[in-house]
Amino acid sequence: MAPSRHIARAVRSKGFRAGRRLITTAIAIMSVLAALAVSAAAVESDDAVERAAMVRTIISYAAQVSSAIGRDRIAPGVLEAMSIVPRHEFVPEDVRRQAYADRPLPIGYGQTISQPFIVALMTDLLQVGPNDVVLEIGTGSGYQAAVLARLAREVHTIEIVPGLADAAAQRLERLGYVNVATRLGDGYYGWQEAAPFDGIIVTAAASQIPPPLIQQLKPGGRMVIPVGAPFALQHLVLVEVDGERKIRTRQLLPVQFVPLAGRN
Ligand SMILES: C[S@@+](CC[C@H](N)C(=O)[O-])C[C@H]1O[C@@H](n2cnc3c(N)ncnc32)[C@H](O)[C@@H]1O
Repeated sequence: MAPSRHIARAVRSKGFRAGRRLITTAIAIMSVLAALAVSAAAVESDDAVERAAMVRTIISYAAQVSSAIGRDRIAPGVLEAMSIVPRHEFVPEDVRRQAYADRPLPIGYGQTISQPFIVALMTDLLQVGPNDVVLEIGTGSGYQAAVLARLAREVHTIEIVPGLADAAAQRLERLGYVNVATRLGDGYYGWQEAAPFDGIIVTAAASQIPPPLIQQLKPGGRMVIPVGAPFALQHLVLVEVDGERKIRTRQLLPVQFVPLAGRN
């Protein structure tokens, strides 16, 4: 065989082997990508399944306390928001597996993210409408603000612990909650520049209802706040301000919240 033909055949078969290697590598990469896509979808749907189970628990607890809260169910819009907001994004890595359990979880600085049932109940009691402007005292992880953000036009939220305020602001921005404004400060005094509010939710226990918060409620507005001594029996209280600014308060349920910190 002429040397040139020999070399040509060798080159052809080398090229063939290289081509086969390329195809095999491409197939391997495509299989890995497909496997990753499948496992991402599985993780995604696992979260959704856990959220759905969490919502079922909320529905059953609401039925059990219906006489105390004066309603027999949590509004469908609130349940829908709870079934969408990714609670696992709002808790630290080490408790992420319990993100959808119906219990409070530590979020650092001695603070907690509230139990999902309490988040649902407080949100429901506020009766948030799509044009409402709402204030939250006690941003914590930002989870309650995210749930409110799915129901209200604007949410303003204040946190007194700088580390939590920073982390929550970044998290809410990363997750795309563009209608939430965050602020570091003492929520006892409310947020005068953004007032008046259709609803105010306080997620730490106050020994009395802060007068600046009542002043920042619109006529017809509502506030939900745990009231009681720190680390003693507290009650969830619903405050309603009518058109003539008459105030009606109703004690609903015994609860346990971390105390409202700050000067007052
Ligand atoms: C039960 S945690 C709130 C959980 C939060 N809503 C969430 O979804 O993660 C109570 C929060 O209130 C904050 N807090 C306590 N006193 C405050 C005050 N005077 N002003 C603003 N935030 C306060 C605490 O630092 C804590 O983060």
